[in-house]
Amino acid sequence: MTEKKFKLEHPVFRIISLTAKESGTKVYVIGGYVRDLLLKKECKDLDFVVRGSGIDFARKVAKKLKCDKEIAVYKNFGTAMIHYKGVELEFVGARKESYNRNSRKPIVEEGTLEDDQKRRDFTINALAISLNEEDYGQLTDPFGGVEDLENKIIKTPLNPDETFSDDPLRMLRAIRFACRLGFRIQEETFEAIKKNKDRIEIVSKERIVDEISKIMLTEKPSKGFLMLDKCGLLEKIIPELSKLKGVEIREGKGHKDNFLHTLQVLDNVAISSQNLWLRFAALFHDIAKPLTKKFIGGTWTFHNHEFIGAKMIPQIFKNLKMPLNEKMKYVKKLVGMHHRAIPISNDEITDSAVRRLMYDAGEDLDDLLILCEADITSKIEEKKQKFLNNYQIVRKKIKELEQKDFVRTWQPPVDGNLIMETFNLKPCRIVGEIKDTIKDSILDGKIENTYEAAYKLMIELGEKRNLKPVSTQNEKTS
Ligand code: CTP
Repeated sequence: MTEKKFKLEHPVFRIISLTAKESGTKVYVIGGYVRDLLLKKECKDLDFVVRGSGIDFARKVAKKLKCDKEIAVYKNFGTAMIHYKGVELEFVGARKESYNRNSRKPIVEEGTLEDDQKRRDFTINALAISLNEEDYGQLTDPFGGVEDLENKIIKTPLNPDETFSDDPLRMLRAIRFACRLGFRIQEETFEAIKKNKDRIEIVSKERIVDEISKIMLTEKPSKGFLMLDKCGLLEKIIPELSKLKGVEIREGKGHKDNFLHTLQVLDNVAISSQNLWLRFAALFHDIAKPLTKKFIGGTWTFHNHEFIGAKMIPQIFKNLKMPLNEKMKYVKKLVGMHHRAIPISNDEITDSAVRRLMYDAGEDLDDLLILCEADITSKIEEKKQKFLNNYQIVRKKIKELEQKDFVRTWQPPVDGNLIMETFNLKPCRIVGEIKDTIKDSILDGKIENTYEAAYKLMIELGEKRNLKPVSTQNEKTS
């Protein structure tokens, strides 16, 4: 046991300490809070372990904190959570746990503090500080967690096979903590992840995605994905990503390793943006490359990979039980458009091409440009600089056109309803054609972006199709 005593700042500690004294029990703050305290990092949520019933104890604390209504009880797990002034206080009775092999739900049996500590995931998360009067602030570290924090090591308190087999989600947690804290996973622990990888099947997809998202949100997510790949978990969780791996060589010509390229793009995006969904778009931007790969005329091609990749997104989300909502549509859109800006930035940059990109990307234009720039991973510095420079020109042009045209939030001044009313048409192909021609003419700068110009063109386009306007009453000024 380490003799070090800690000063505990949070006001709830004294109240919890008093509750323990009054009820003749022992309580400790444990887990993430203690780990982050030693790392001098901020940790918002607090976990407590109590001798006896965590639920009964939590009820007493809630009463003292005058927030009886803010308590959630999880009887099956023997835990209770209090929401107190934006902080989550979680209480659990010290337990000896043994897990059901086919689910993550533990069978709970009362135990000592040390019993509880050894059933936790990692030594660095098994540190506890006493809140009891006789040794308030005293750290308990039976498994060398402090030393592992100093040496930056993720390791399980028990034999790792046992810890991971108990709760396979911990395999992902190991990788997440290694990424977030910049630690390495001890070899024996990593070997156990490899060995137990198939056990991930009993973990719900929601929990898996939660961990993957946390890995995605670290400073250098590639580190996590390389580990996920190395231990074999990636293939089990997102097999489409594993298929990006490797380089094929024909007639002496190889293509780039699309897995490593993807990870570089992901890291590049992570430098520019905290947006999780933009990071997902980076992760999946080349997902269809294995499907579209062809060796034609002495070169490798991945024709249409962005469109096919976009089509794959809903199924990937579905497999991961991720909601098929606006976020999914956003990822799909960016994957589908990630090549759209390349010809614009490479060729002569015309107003109409930029306008079209602005119109199609809409409010996601800035994110799309971040993705496009992140996608420049050429090792030839000169080439890379040239491409990046071109994007600067595209950005400048966007600013200019934005001031002139407001294209980003723009809608054509003549809509389908007006076309139908004017020519007395029911919804049909012709309405769509006239509408698109008007939109394209404005985007290409052929006519002015005004109601009058659009209306005039609508009449001309109708006449070409032998349509006569039934009334001109809708003609109005913009
Ligand atoms: N824990 C565990 N096994 C798990 C999840 C959690 O042993 N599968 C234990 C660890 O002791 C952990 C504590 O419960 O420290 C709290 O878990 P959680 O709140 O998920 O993580 P934190 O360690 O607090 O980390 P974070 O900063 O991500 O909240």
